[in-house]
Amino acid sequence: MRFSSSIAASAALFLSGSSALNILMSNDDGFGSANIREFKKQLDAMGHNTIIVAPAVQQSGKGGSSSYTGEANLTGPSEYDLIPAGAPSIGADPHDSSIWYYNGTPAACVFVGLDYVLPRYGNFSTPDLVVAGPNFGTNPGPFLYTLSGTLGATYAAVGRSIPAIAFSASNDETPYTAITNSSNTATYVAQVSAKIVKSFVSNTPKGQAILPLGYGINVNIPPLTDAMHDPPVVKTRLTGNADTDIAVWNATTGTFHYGNLEPPAAGVNTCLNGDCSLPGETYIVEGGEVSVSVFSVDYDAPSNAYTTAVFNKLKGIASNTTASRRRTRRSVNYSHP
Ligand SMILES: *[C@@H]1O[C@H](CO)[C@@H](O)[C@H](O)[C@H]1NC(C)=O
Ligand SMILES: *[C@@H]1O[C@H](CO)[C@@H](O)[C@H](O)[C@H]1NC(C)=O
Ligand SMILES: *[C@@H]1O[C@H](CO)[C@@H](O)[C@H](O)[C@H]1NC(C)=O
Ligand SMILES: *[C@@H]1O[C@H](CO)[C@@H](O)[C@H](O)[C@H]1NC(C)=O
Ligand SMILES: *[C@@H]1O[C@H](CO)[C@@H](O)[C@H](O)[C@H]1NC(C)=O
Ligand SMILES: *[C@@H]1O[C@H](CO)[C@@H](O)[C@H](O)[C@H]1NC(C)=O
Repeated sequence: MRFSSSIAASAALFLSGSSALNILMSNDDGFGSANIREFKKQLDAMGHNTIIVAPAVQQSGKGGSSSYTGEANLTGPSEYDLIPAGAPSIGADPHDSSIWYYNGTPAACVFVGLDYVLPRYGNFSTPDLVVAGPNFGTNPGPFLYTLSGTLGATYAAVGRSIPAIAFSASNDETPYTAITNSSNTATYVAQVSAKIVKSFVSNTPKGQAILPLGYGINVNIPPLTDAMHDPPVVKTRLTGNADTDIAVWNATTGTFHYGNLEPPAAGVNTCLNGDCSLPGETYIVEGGEVSVSVFSVDYDAPSNAYTTAVFNKLKGIASNTTASRRRTRRSVNYSHP
């Protein structure tokens, strides 16, 4: 109560300055998705500077594959007919120069954002944060981690040394043009997503990275309703009751379709890294709560007796040290303290 107004004003300035991030946004549902557009509105309202670079058409299920179109121009219209056939394969939304589409996979959109859109057209070049989604449909567990384009965009960014968060929700696919008010599931999932970004930002000192190198976050959001759109947030892990596919043969059609293995497979649910006492995100989202898991893109097995025993099976054919004379590429080795 005794702060002078000038101190209060500069404190407010400092706080707003420290919390304003440059954010690259993407997804796999495309640049016209209601979820990503509502999320952008929320992040912009919080004072962040955002640019979307997202697929021109639906690119779900592409995982982390980075696939660039060989066509200079779109061979068909973009999703929801927002961009006509024949327009360039990369371009800005005619109504908003901070929203870009590209006719490639989600991971490719992140690379095109980092290496083409931001350097040429952005007012920042390296984002402080990449966010992907919120996806239409949840992505819990390691199987969906590898399958989902929303996760693929996220771990592509982490691989490029940029902190990244994937958001996946339970609402149905909706074009942004269908949103007419703020009482709808796309706005609600954007609000939950923005609340999580806000927590990461406000708990990171100014000038520090939002996440350590090599780390990313996977957020899954349960179904939201007008009556319940701010559910509890729970710390989780990727494994634990996570699903994996089986191939179901249909003799009538002569084709396969997928199903979930029951009970869940031990392989995909083995706890090798992280805190094994945390609940699996699959359980938590099924229970109506928001799951937040921390992943890393270091896919090496932990250093323990199992790994030593596995390596020992190479006895006699593999050595412990690298043959440095045969190494032709520059070696980098980043370890956290
Ligand atoms: C792409 O479209 C532009 C006009 O928008 C045209 O000038 C160009 O020739 C097209 N490129 C190809 C490879 O078709
Ligand atoms: C960056 O550009 C966007 C428009 O793309 C604008 O809204 C925003 O204010 C700019 N931010 C800064 C920090 O110049
Ligand atoms: C808000 O929009 C949704 C559709 O997105 C509609 O179902 C609902 O009735 C609208 N609510 C109000 C208060 O206009
Ligand atoms: C196989 O496909 C047919 C035709 O789509 C469908 O009617 C039937 O229910 C399917 N059977 C199974 C076991 O999924
Ligand atoms: C290689 O590593 C294994 C296990 O870490 C150790 O037992 C063995 O002595 C090492 N061999 C050499 C040649 O350093
Ligand atoms: C990488 O760095 C860590 C920690 O500094 C060190 O223990 C390790 O031996 C290094 N690995 C290589 C291959 O240089």
